Amino acid sequence: MKSATKAFSIVLALCAGAAFAEVEATDPIVIAHKDLMKSFGGAAKTLGGMASGDTAFDAAAAEAAKAKLVSGSADIPAVFEKPGSDPASEAKPEIWTNWDDFVLKAKALGDAATALDASSADGVKAGMGAVGGACKACHTAYRL
Ligand code: HEC
Repeated sequence: MKSATKAFSIVLALCAGAAFAEVEATDPIVIAHKDLMKSFGGAAKTLGGMASGDTAFDAAAAEAAKAKLVSGSADIPAVFEKPGSDPASEAKPEIWTNWDDFVLKAKALGDAATALDASSADGVKAGMGAVGGACKACHTAYRL
């Protein structure tokens, strides 16, 4: 019993280390920023796995992941409206001084996700380059 508990806590610690390398956010504003991004991370993982062939193509899952990116990117301006204050935040202050450009980068993700053809593995493969590029463009400019 005791060693089983210990093993379980080691697994938990490993998972925590992988998923949350930094301090946990406590400011609800920053938690909302991160939750939206985590949903993108999940969707990108689903689509990326299908694009690389690591996971089998699943049309319903691909469509759901695409929908998450399309609707979530439209939510970026509202979710990121305020900076929040939290040592766990990786959002650069430039977001709020270059707001129009930040919103354009959110829109670029929406456009790339909308253009992605989620009806086949080839479609996902063809579309993921632009989606990943849109994630990266914003992270390079606005993520610590
Ligand atoms: C318009 C800008 C923008 C776009 C587009 C964007 N991100 Fe982010 N992302 C950010 C910012 C800013 C942060 C830092 C948030 C924080 O720490 O508060 C972030 C953080 C993250 C995180 C870390 C979340 C955490 O738990 O700390 C993940 C994962 C992530 N983004 C995935 C993605 C993926 C995948 C895409 C594309 C499908 C994407 N992002 C598109 C701005 C963007």
